[in-house]
Amino acid sequence: MTFNPLRERGIPLDKQLRNWRELNVTPIDPDHADPYTRCRIIAMNGIEVEAVMFSHQMARHCPDTEIKQQLARVRYIEAQQQKAVNWLLPGLASVLETTLAYEQVAVDLTAWVARMEPDPYLQQAYQFGVLEDFDHLYRYANLYEMIEHRKAEKVVDQLTEVMPGRPTIMHHRDPVDNVREPYDRATVDPLSKLHALTIMSAEQQTMNFYMNVGPEYMEPIARRLYQEIGLIEEEHVTHYESLVDPGETWWEMLLNHEYNECYLYHSFMETETDPKVKAIWELHLNMELEHLRLAAEMFNKHDTRDVAEVVSPKLPKPVTFEPNKEYVRDLIATQIDYTTIGTGYVQEAHERFEKFQEQIHGGEQPPSEAVIEENKAKSGEEYRLETEGPHPVERLRLS
Ligand SMILES: [Fe+2]
Ligand SMILES: [Fe+2]
Ligand SMILES: [Fe+2]
Ligand SMILES: [Fe+2]
Repeated sequence: MTFNPLRERGIPLDKQLRNWRELNVTPIDPDHADPYTRCRIIAMNGIEVEAVMFSHQMARHCPDTEIKQQLARVRYIEAQQQKAVNWLLPGLASVLETTLAYEQVAVDLTAWVARMEPDPYLQQAYQFGVLEDFDHLYRYANLYEMIEHRKAEKVVDQLTEVMPGRPTIMHHRDPVDNVREPYDRATVDPLSKLHALTIMSAEQQTMNFYMNVGPEYMEPIARRLYQEIGLIEEEHVTHYESLVDPGETWWEMLLNHEYNECYLYHSFMETETDPKVKAIWELHLNMELEHLRLAAEMFNKHDTRDVAEVVSPKLPKPVTFEPNKEYVRDLIATQIDYTTIGTGYVQEAHERFEKFQEQIHGGEQPPSEAVIEENKAKSGEEYRLETEGPHPVERLRLS
């Protein structure tokens, strides 16, 4: 069955406003929910946050009051959607448990996107990034065991492995080296544009989350680890946002955003295991179809091209949360020692990298290393979840 989001009819905009009762969603059960349901919620929250912030940016660059009013109407609905989605998370989970789930999203969503990405340069960008968030999961899992005396498999289940990736200490690069080359909007596969927007939004939300929750902890090691990884998420946002062609017009960007929302709600509706959550994906899809229609209308009015030149009439294969264990293991085995230089990649440390490393570490061990040692001292051994055998890199195996 082909689903053409440009043809489907959604809910008229003036029927989309929800009252307090309708916004008051029932959260998922923290002990029995499918971990990938939680991942879909976190990913979709990142998409809605981006929808709201992008629309604000567009409004701030828009001199036309009528267009601003139209943006404000749709944006208010996006803001309600963000509330409905993010409030599916149960208040019972600790900040650190939610953090583990954020990194699980980063691992399994980025790995899926890397597997599906048709362009080799863009694919390399996702492969490079996924090994870093994979390592963050391991660092936070050790913090979790140390200060909450629980194991990360309580959150990630057996779906995502927890072990060293590219060590976090190596993620601190000169900011210049975090900027990638953009795709060309005229020739790129439409799927690549959706991928870039999705991962950029997810990383941006992770960055925002860490910058806000990091100081909520009292334990010095926790406060420090959030600072360190929060700064890497800043690098990741720079890395992924620079993949998007900056030559896209505001109308084109708006169209891409609404289209991507349709794509992801449709994907999650197709793959959701929790019927109550699925009903929300379906409702929001029906709202987004109308947002997309309105964005296309604006595009037709203000851009010279045809909508079909920018977005595809057929949705790609659904974005699916599923284990990517072998894929990630292969990347660890082959790309663990990669770093970036300019807009490319190298396997050896270079001068600018080493200079930055020297400055940021100041001759001391960073929190991401300290957390492993401190947990070893406290719990007897470091925390790992290696379900598929020993670590693929020999020097990173447990002795
Ligand atoms: Fe939305
Ligand atoms: Fe991360
Ligand atoms: Fe990240
Ligand atoms: Fe939307």
